[in-house]
Amino acid sequence: MASLSFAAAAAAAVNLRRPDVTSDFGNRQRTSTLVRRKRLSLSLNAAGSTEPSSAAPEKPEIELEFIGPKPGADGSYPVDKAKAVSGEKLLRNIMNENKIELYATYGKAMNCGGGGSCGTCIVEIIDGKDLLNERTNTELRYLKKKPESWRLACQTIVGNKENSGKVVVQRLPQWKK
Ligand code: FES
Repeated sequence: MASLSFAAAAAAAVNLRRPDVTSDFGNRQRTSTLVRRKRLSLSLNAAGSTEPSSAAPEKPEIELEFIGPKPGADGSYPVDKAKAVSGEKLLRNIMNENKIELYATYGKAMNCGGGGSCGTCIVEIIDGKDLLNERTNTELRYLKKKPESWRLACQTIVGNKENSGKVVVQRLPQWKK
């Protein structure tokens, strides 16, 4: 019984509302005018308003410079550049996407694909190490006897989603004597 009365009350509520929107011509016209006004004001805002935009704010970025291990014919070291949204990518992935060589000969053929089990994706952070994550346990294991500035690119997160700045990376630091 209680459920029947509830259903009847709900149907009555629907019937009471319907004429407001669909059968009363005057109200319909007013509604459509309101919609038109709203559309007009939206397009005016998009065209020239100085009000703050509702678009998401830009995410902070990290600039990267990659210094090659050997000088070119003119004696200068080649430098590749890239940019990444802070905290979203591993250094290895950024280098891959930008076609920046990471591996030495053995690593090219035998790397673990970023799984942290080969230790061949070595880079040296020349500048900006504070913009990166701390060395992981994998790095502590593989780089135990290496300089503190060396990292494994597949373990290195570039940025922390909030910081921005510049990181300078030496490629193939094991080639530099
Ligand atoms: S790619 Fe194998 S440890 Fe980084």
